[in-house]
Amino acid sequence: MCGIVGYTGRREAPPILLEGLQRLVYRGYDSAGLAVSSNGTLAIRKMAGPVEDLSQDILQTPLRGVAGIGHTRWATHGAPTTLNAHPHTDCSGRIALVHNGIIENADRLRAELSASGHTFRTDTDTEVLAHLIEDAPGECLEDRVRAVIGRVKGSYGIAVVGTAEPGKIVAVRQGSPVLLGLSEGGTFVASDAAAVRSHTDEVVYLLDGDLAVITADGYQIRRGNGTIPLRRPTRVAWSADAVELAGFERYMLKEIFEQPDAIRRTIASWSARNESEDALAQCNLTPLECRTFERIQIVACGTSWHAGLIGRYILEEMTGIPVQVEYASEYRYKCQLPLPGTLTLAISQSGETADTLEALRRAQSEGSHVLGIVNTVGSTIARESDGVMYLAAGPEIGVASTKAFTSQLVALLLLGLTFGEARGALAPPRARELEGELRKLPELVRRSLEVDREIKELAKIVSNPRGFLYLGRGVSFPVALEGALKLKEVSYLHAEGYPAAEMKHGPIALVDDDTPVVFVAPRDGLYRKVLANIQEVKARGGRIIAICAEEDEEEMELARLADHRVHVPCPSDPLLTPVTTVVPLQLLAYHVAMLRGCNVDRPRNLAKSVTVE
Ligand code: AGP
Repeated sequence: MCGIVGYTGRREAPPILLEGLQRLVYRGYDSAGLAVSSNGTLAIRKMAGPVEDLSQDILQTPLRGVAGIGHTRWATHGAPTTLNAHPHTDCSGRIALVHNGIIENADRLRAELSASGHTFRTDTDTEVLAHLIEDAPGECLEDRVRAVIGRVKGSYGIAVVGTAEPGKIVAVRQGSPVLLGLSEGGTFVASDAAAVRSHTDEVVYLLDGDLAVITADGYQIRRGNGTIPLRRPTRVAWSADAVELAGFERYMLKEIFEQPDAIRRTIASWSARNESEDALAQCNLTPLECRTFERIQIVACGTSWHAGLIGRYILEEMTGIPVQVEYASEYRYKCQLPLPGTLTLAISQSGETADTLEALRRAQSEGSHVLGIVNTVGSTIARESDGVMYLAAGPEIGVASTKAFTSQLVALLLLGLTFGEARGALAPPRARELEGELRKLPELVRRSLEVDREIKELAKIVSNPRGFLYLGRGVSFPVALEGALKLKEVSYLHAEGYPAAEMKHGPIALVDDDTPVVFVAPRDGLYRKVLANIQEVKARGGRIIAICAEEDEEEMELARLADHRVHVPCPSDPLLTPVTTVVPLQLLAYHVAMLRGCNVDRPRNLAKSVTVE
């Protein structure tokens, strides 16, 4: 949720830390701060507002030092003020730390520490950690941090510096992601690889319970009372350019336009395993196991949950296996009997969403095989799943998920195809036909992007309404949900996604000439039914935007009913249509938000990776 970065080496730390924070702003951006060790003191600079403000401040009054830690915050405990910004310090100012996560027993610890004479200056849960370390026994910083860990409940990733050992950073991972970056010029710690990628492609992921001691020359990891052998670093597969804007005005737009490549790579990485057996082996499954599953459950949040809803249509039709889709946050607490023979799919772009991770753990504890469908290599969900199917979408920086969504759909289609064939649910000719359709998707999405200009014009007409309705049926219903979510996230306009026929049971009351109604209406088995729903809205004076198939250019009835028609090329198999019909909805959200002056890459109150419950 928050972003952490630290560096210790032979170079000046502040510019490195500020650059790292810039890369991490998508994790949280309500305030930012640095602590730099220099000449036996800790210089701290922090402020509410974007990292750019902090950079400006440091430019005017420079900080110097070759080791330090930085933080960009998404507030949980305490308002997003300068005082509550990280790093936080102990009473003496000799310990400073940054934290991502939540300390669940912070109130009790705070009361105890206050009673024993500690002075708290902030409303955060994090500050208790600094005071606990201040009091902790131990010869060195790592011993003192180790002593504190036992007293703290919750999930956290922390990085700590102290005046007594200036070139040292101690980092701990317990529930929130932390990795180390290794390079000749020094050692890094960060909450994700984006923060360090321009300096190194070698990272070591910490595991829960790891305490790392980082110096300019490298690192050690301690678990329990001992030091463990060095872990083999993982190579980050994407280049530093992948997190640049590359000429686009916003990451969201860049990522929308990257979809053809993201989909092509996702198909290629699966098909590189020539035989479906190889592909299943990657999921840690055998064809026999795959034939014996009796049901599939999908757990995910937000956009990934929408991908899961579409996955239900795909998997039920291609594999014949019943599928249920759960919000991970609900599933983790729901009363449920163990379900033998269940395959669980945990879908997550970041691989760090706390609710999805807990849902995964719960499914495993019930004996389910969990397959992670994950974009971020080495993330916690990827590591804890029994098998993992990686998307190859590349780093997604915009808070609103776009290319990860369409890549998730493609992954679900590939999985459906593989399972369908292994179970004999898909006849070989139908399987080949679907495969051919799948391979056309990158080109169809590329052509779908050609509506960008048209959508930009349309956005001018609809950028200030009372709200939006998004309607669709069958596999297009979750597309409508996703369109509504995208618009809400980035433009702050209210939007509601609904099954088109169900709107008669309530939402139709919202229809007026100030509430555009977006119909997702590809040419599928429900098309004529959707036309009837469009009639119903038209009869009530609604302004209709129809997302329809390119082939429907001549469709007279739709032309008569819709105020605006946006044509996209649609795959001939309806199961694949969400991959192209969602594209104009992403663009509509983007352009409406830009016209309204919203910060689309950093929408208010949101964070890219939700690592708290
Ligand atoms: C998507 O636009 C959202 N920002 C959000 O709903 C996101 O999909 C959700 O938080 C799940 O994230 P994950 O895919 O990284 O698990």
